[in-house]
Amino acid sequence: MTAKIISIAQSKGGVGKSTVCANLAVTFSQSAKVLMIDCDPPQNSLSAWFSVRADLYEEAGLSVEKAATPSQLFALIEKNKNSFDYILIDGAPHVNPTVRAMLLISNMLIIPLAPSSVEIWSFETFEALLTKAIKFNKGLLPKICWNRVRRRVKSSEEVIQGVKKNTHIAQFKNKLTFRVAYMDSFAEGCSVYEWTDPVASAEIWSLSSAIKRAVHKLEPINLSRSAAVQDFIKKG
Ligand SMILES: Nc1ncnc2c1ncn2[C@@H]1O[C@H](COP(=O)(O)OP(=O)(O)O)[C@@H](O)[C@H]1O
Ligand SMILES: [Mg+2]
Repeated sequence: MTAKIISIAQSKGGVGKSTVCANLAVTFSQSAKVLMIDCDPPQNSLSAWFSVRADLYEEAGLSVEKAATPSQLFALIEKNKNSFDYILIDGAPHVNPTVRAMLLISNMLIIPLAPSSVEIWSFETFEALLTKAIKFNKGLLPKICWNRVRRRVKSSEEVIQGVKKNTHIAQFKNKLTFRVAYMDSFAEGCSVYEWTDPVASAEIWSLSSAIKRAVHKLEPINLSRSAAVQDFIKKG
């Protein structure tokens, strides 16, 4: 097997990267082998979540590793790509060489975004970086995942429509709404699937099905080691 590599990245913290990563990892692991790579030192909230989880569940299909540099990340991918179905990589809350490396080795990039103007402003610089990364990784499929959406709030809908108009990056139809279950379940080492909120659970299941359908059509990525690639990783 060659693992499908899915990164969750954004140039901002608090957008839901680790939450989305943990929840997708649990749903995928119900029927596949999943490795998570936590690239957010020193917080490492994904690894912290997993160690809380390890006291609750014995899971053969789900594990976590940490990478603090591009070379650690590449080494982990090389070592594990033939032993897992999915590798999910959780990024830092700012762009750094490891985040740029993630863009180069992934099949799919999930970009969590809340429908608020402040988040959209910072997203514009990330989009410029993404355009550059796609020149080196033509196979990359980036997709915006709306998170913390408040239903029936007019400004949210306006922001979503505005982004649709002004960006060429695709968006998942499935949105994750603002629900306490995402916060509470993560704090206890669980996913929303193992929690008491059927709406949040259904949101994550339908998002994970959409991801699986899209990612299986994508070809494996061959990372070039050219000087231009090294330069992009170092400086952007
Ligand atoms: N859909 C959601 N509804 C409610 N709270 C959320 C949702 N997604 C994330 N959060 C909360 O937002 C905060 C930031 O999420 P986190 O996943 O740590 O972001 P990041 O990894 O991008 O820094 C956390 O407290 C998390 O529980
Ligand atoms: Mg995080």
